[in-house]
Amino acid sequence: MNIPELHTVSASNNEDIIIFLPEKNTGKIPGLSGEDQKIIAGLISENSKNTFYRSASGQFYVIVVTGQANDVAGRLEKARIAGFEAFSLLEKRSGKSWFFSAPEDTKEDNAAFLEGLLLSCYQFDKYKTEKHVRPDKINIAENSLYADMPAFLHQQISAVFFARDLVNEPLSFLTAEQLAEEILREGDRCGFQVKIYDKKAIEEMGFHALLAVNRGSVQPPVFTELTWKPENAVNQDPIVISGKGIVYDTGGLSLKATQGSMDRMKSDMGGAAAVAGLFSLIASSGLPVYVKGLIPATDNRPGGDAYVPGDVIKTHKGISVEVLNTDAEGRLILADALSYASQFSPLLTLDVATLTGSAAQTFGVHAAAYMGTADSTYTQVLEKSGFITGEKVSPLPLWDEYESLIESDIADIRNTVGGKGCGAIGAGMFLKHFAPSPWIHLDIAGTAFTPEHFNYRGIQGTGYGVRLLYRFLKDLIPAL
Ligand code: BES
Ligand code: ZN
Ligand code: ZN
Repeated sequence: MNIPELHTVSASNNEDIIIFLPEKNTGKIPGLSGEDQKIIAGLISENSKNTFYRSASGQFYVIVVTGQANDVAGRLEKARIAGFEAFSLLEKRSGKSWFFSAPEDTKEDNAAFLEGLLLSCYQFDKYKTEKHVRPDKINIAENSLYADMPAFLHQQISAVFFARDLVNEPLSFLTAEQLAEEILREGDRCGFQVKIYDKKAIEEMGFHALLAVNRGSVQPPVFTELTWKPENAVNQDPIVISGKGIVYDTGGLSLKATQGSMDRMKSDMGGAAAVAGLFSLIASSGLPVYVKGLIPATDNRPGGDAYVPGDVIKTHKGISVEVLNTDAEGRLILADALSYASQFSPLLTLDVATLTGSAAQTFGVHAAAYMGTADSTYTQVLEKSGFITGEKVSPLPLWDEYESLIESDIADIRNTVGGKGCGAIGAGMFLKHFAPSPWIHLDIAGTAFTPEHFNYRGIQGTGYGVRLLYRFLKDLIPAL
């Protein structure tokens, strides 16, 4: 979809006006006529509610006032949700242009508000005959934001929308090959490199686990390698980020139930979408960090030649795996990608995956689970990035005691915990065998997709991870 253009202007020009006040504050609001200032001051003093609006002489004002939160992260999230509330009021007006203004001394909060407003504008209407009207542009009063914010916001929103589009696209369009094609196109647009490996190359590279998962499919697997290596990169060795690219997860022969389970499994490439969206943003904004992205992709299906529960498969690393459930396929394709990552001598390796129902049940839509071998130099930055962006993460342990969960009687390890609980940790323990260190695994099963509308995150694909990982890399720069 088209993202509204963001223009900086000195005054409003007859559009619907959105005023954001981070606290009840009648200080000067930039870019408004004396008359508008008076009307708005009147509206504020008459109303005690947080959000209200009034049409006055054909014009429409939305004024959103958020209460104080104790911490910065809480304040920014309130501002984003306020942006969503403003959007909800204005949406019905079908205006093509909006004017935005907010106090000069709260620029960070103002940016978060606009972020929430813009993220709320998203719609996946490719397959709809009737489309909702969205504004073409938002005119921003000068001094309500730092000068470079409009351009950055635009890049960020575009990257999140790209990730959401990928998640929302059904398998009927987004096969593994099409996923690679979409990433290639985004790479051309934003300036990162994309190398696509086809099935023959995957065979030569020895990605036996990816090939095993693909065996039931009628479409070939694809492995995509993304590179962003700017001249001014602060790191010599890359940060490698792999994303699970299961374009559809039927469960394979360990078939999933349809309702509430398989019916949302077009989103099982949410990790790949987050990595692709992240590259879109780091390249379009020129982040000075050398990053590699690895995306193993296939659908997971039962078929004449499908791998079966009980099979023993080889992996790229040489570790043998007893497959006791073909629905635990994500860890298999990531095993190959993580072991492939080692050749780059990465400074840090991450993987992002809609990996377990267990992580979704534990943290719901509110946080991703993270685990791994990276120390607090990395995890503290990750947790803080989570709070600041509203894409929260919470730790789970990978203690040696959990190793027995994945012991196999006939192979080196097995791919499920087999009814012993600890599903998210068991998957983490499995990946630990393949990942270079330091490494962080992010299980985004609960956060990548929302079947119900969830404020500015929208419905279905949320684009979770793009803003989080960007912030993480940016805040990591001093430590690299
Ligand atoms: N793609 C699913 C995990 C998932 C569940 C993502 C719910 C989003 C929402 C994954 O491939 C899977 O099926 N995992 C199984 C593993 C089990 C069979 C060991 C699970 O978590 O139930
Ligand atoms: Zn599965
Ligand atoms: Zn899956």
